[in-house]
Parts: sequence; structure tokens; C-alpha cells
Amino acid sequence: MTETIPQQEENPLLEGLLVRRTPDPCAFVIFGASGDLTQRKLIPALYSLAYRRLLPENFAVLGVARSEESDDEFRSRMEDAVKEHARDPFRQDVWDFLAGGMRYVATDFADEKGEDRVGKVLTELDEERGTNGNRLYYFAVPPSAIGTLVQQLGEQRSAEGWVRLIIEKPFGHNLESARELNALIQEHFAEHEIFRIDHYLGKETVQNMLALRFANGIFEPIWNRQFIDHVQITVAESIGIEGRSGYYEQAGAIRDIFQNHLLQLLALTAMEPPIDFTSEQVRNEKVKVLRSLHTPGPKSVVRGQYGRGFVEGEEVPGYREEEGVAPDSMTETYVAAKLFVDNWRWADTPFYVRMGKRLPRRETSIAIQFKRAPHPPFEETATEELRPNVLVVHVQPDEGVSLAIGAKVPGAGMKIRTVNMDFLYGGAFRTGLPEAYERLILDAMLGEATLFTRTDEVEEQWSLVDAIVAAWRRDRPGFPNYPAGTWGPPSAADLIERDARSWRRT
Ligand code: BG6
Repeated sequence: MTETIPQQEENPLLEGLLVRRTPDPCAFVIFGASGDLTQRKLIPALYSLAYRRLLPENFAVLGVARSEESDDEFRSRMEDAVKEHARDPFRQDVWDFLAGGMRYVATDFADEKGEDRVGKVLTELDEERGTNGNRLYYFAVPPSAIGTLVQQLGEQRSAEGWVRLIIEKPFGHNLESARELNALIQEHFAEHEIFRIDHYLGKETVQNMLALRFANGIFEPIWNRQFIDHVQITVAESIGIEGRSGYYEQAGAIRDIFQNHLLQLLALTAMEPPIDFTSEQVRNEKVKVLRSLHTPGPKSVVRGQYGRGFVEGEEVPGYREEEGVAPDSMTETYVAAKLFVDNWRWADTPFYVRMGKRLPRRETSIAIQFKRAPHPPFEETATEELRPNVLVVHVQPDEGVSLAIGAKVPGAGMKIRTVNMDFLYGGAFRTGLPEAYERLILDAMLGEATLFTRTDEVEEQWSLVDAIVAAWRRDRPGFPNYPAGTWGPPSAADLIERDARSWRRT
């Protein structure tokens, strides 16, 4: 029996995804369609959007990659990917809708004839599927492949329909290359057609930082150096590099996480309230934060690389033992830093950040630690177990927000202990959280750029990274310097303990 797809109005699954206008008819073209991202994230996200009827009726998907594959082989591989990775159950009618407009072209990206074949299939899809010449190109390819592609697409663009480009990170590998790439893209495309993706911005809990700060009257007045002692941002992963040595050896933690996800989390935490929630206003405020960031010196940034160890009870190899990694690799898999935002709101308030692979568990969080109460009128022994107030945004897992407060322990006398007030997404809302890629792909189809990074943001992010990497060239730490399954090298603890503070126990 074929089930019908529920209509938007009666579909409870839509809670959590803003239902706006339906996107225009369009073709979604994935360059790099044989890669992991396509199978794990992009196609499952398209499936979930189709499941919720958020895609336009006239829709097509074109996969483009080097490996030889027929349309049917591609479709069948993508069907398996949906069954394995989509967050929604498999439904034949939903899949048939998506697969009906799915094609594949095998080509080398540098091959101009390949571009012609892509163009030809897209014209056929316009006729068969009514996609009206609208194109959303997704670049899931290394930065080196983007240049030629963009040039060819730019030269071939027709007057009919709109064109938008979604570009995966890493956007260049330093400031200079990012600028070159921007200049090249901007020769052919306008900024409003370019969507530089940072999938952290598509996470519900990351956007919730804006809701928390700007939809509540109680936080903003104390969200500054007068009341906040410091901020800690953690992006911890228990996984290793998962077979991506070719990419990771070049990137390291600083380009993989710090340059993009981490700095975006920081920018959302520290930014001024935007006048409205339009893409320009939000990004104007974020870029000001990125521009005012600095580290007080080389000692304020530490790096690490994991050696052999145990993660979640399992023995895992060291980074240098991973396949494809040089036995003397100096690539960092961990970074911790102390950063300052030089403005009136935050001057002298440290932002301690840390991120790494093969840490004891997966946890991304932003913790705002407030100053201690100025004069607690209790005896010191009564407050021994009392910690300062901390507001924690749990980005993942266990998505939610918690506030640590002091409360009286029941019983005679006045003993005070820290307890948590928790808001958990799972408890407050009926549905599971949408995947970041669903939100971002839908936004790009709608031409909505708020959750994508603008040229100037990317360039500011690289400026800071370039300064850090330049300082690193002066010394050579003894890698590996933390066993897998631990919270990073001892120097990371020193970094914060020097300031008489400590990393939050997560
Ligand atoms: C990617 C990085 O951008 O983010 C990966 O390249 C990392 O190395 C991943 O594992 C983490 O994303 P998430 O959504 O699982 O936190």
C-alpha cells in the first residue's frame, strides 16, 4: 500500500522547521557526489525535506563526480544511504519522488566537456521536471577544484533562472587563498548568490543562542564583563579522523574546527544584538566580533596530537598510526586557546576555547561563567560546595540549556550546594531536532543567507588563524602529547590554571 505524504498543515513533524514559502522549482547539483558528505548528510537531508514536503514539486538532483556510475547505480547507492543515514523512516513514495528526478554525470572537474554534459543533463531535467533553469550548485569538493568549476559555471550561466552556489569548508587554507577564491567567485557571481556553509550554524541549539540572548529580557543586561567572569567553549569529539587523512593532514584542528565552527560559536555568544534578523544585520554584528578578536600571545594557544589510548573502553591507535598519516606528522588534533574580544562589552573577559579529536566523549557546549556573588552572608563552611553560576548551552549531545545555581540543602542549618536548572529539548518539544543540513539546504533554496558566512567573516577568521599558525612555526612540540581518551595535553590545563580558573568538568 502506498502511503500519502502528510500535508504541511497536518504534519506534526514540521514542528521545529519553520514553514515558510516553498522554494522555487530547481535542480540541486552536487559536485563531489561520490564522497562521504553526499551519502551521510546531503541526500539524507534532501530525503527528510521531501518527507516533510518542504521541497518544490518540480525538483531534480544531479550528482557529479569522477567515478563511473550509471543513473541507476547512483540512485541505488543513494537509496542505501537514505536507509542508513536519514533520521526519518524509509517511505517508498517519498523516495520515488526524489529518485524520479535523480541523475548522475561522471566527469573530471577540470574537463570542460564534462561541464557541457552537466549542462545538457540540466536542460533535459528542466524539460522533464520543470526546474525552470534554477540551479543550486553544491561544492562538496576540495578548494583546489572549486576555481575551475566556478569559472566554467560562470561562463556558461544563462539568463534564465537563478543560480546559487553552496560552498563547503574549508574555504581556502589561509587568508591569501581565501581572498583569491573569493575574488575568483565574485568575478562571476554576486555575494547574494554565494552560500559559504558552516554546518554548525544550521544546528538548532546554536541558533538557540540567539533566542536565549535576544528573546529574553533577563540575560542581556548581565551579558558583559561586569557580570561574566569568563566564557568556555568546548568542541570535543571522541572520534578520530575517520579515514580522512588526506584532508586532515593538511587541515589539522585549527583549520578543521577552530577557523569555522568554533569561531562562529564564539561570534554568536559575543555579538551585539542585531537590529533585526536579516542576513546583513546578523552578519554585520558577527563580523565585528571576529574583527576584535585577539590572543594575548603564543603562550595562549596550545596544540596537541593524540597518541594511542582508550576511548569509551576501546583501544584506538595514535594519530601517527592512522592510515595515510606521516609517521612524524606535526598535524595538531587538539587546540586550546585564550581569546579576548576587544570592545566595551568584553574587554579583559577571557574566552577559553578547546577542541579536539579522540577526547573522552562527544560534547559541544558554551559555558558562561558568572562572577561570584559579591558578599554571600553565609559561613564559609556552608558554601564549600558552592560554585559560581554557570549558564551552559549544550549544543550536543543532550541538547538544552542549564543554569547552575546555589540552593539550600534540605535539613537543619544553612548548607548551600550547586544544583542545575535544566531545559532539555527532548522534554520540551515533541519532535527530534532537524539535521543542520536540512535547514541550510532549505535556506539556500529560499535564497536566505543569515546562517551562511559572508566573505568578510571568512577572511577575519583566517586572519586570526594565520597569526596563530605563524607563531607555531617557531617551535616544535613533542607530539604525541596526549593519549587518546584524555582531555588534551597538560599544557591545555596550564593555560587556564595560570589564571586561577579551570576547565569545566563535562
Ligand atoms: C566537520 C569536521 O566540519 O565537523 C569534522 O570536518 C568534524 O572533522 C565534524 O568531525 C563535526 O561535526 P558534528 O556536527 O558531528 O559536530
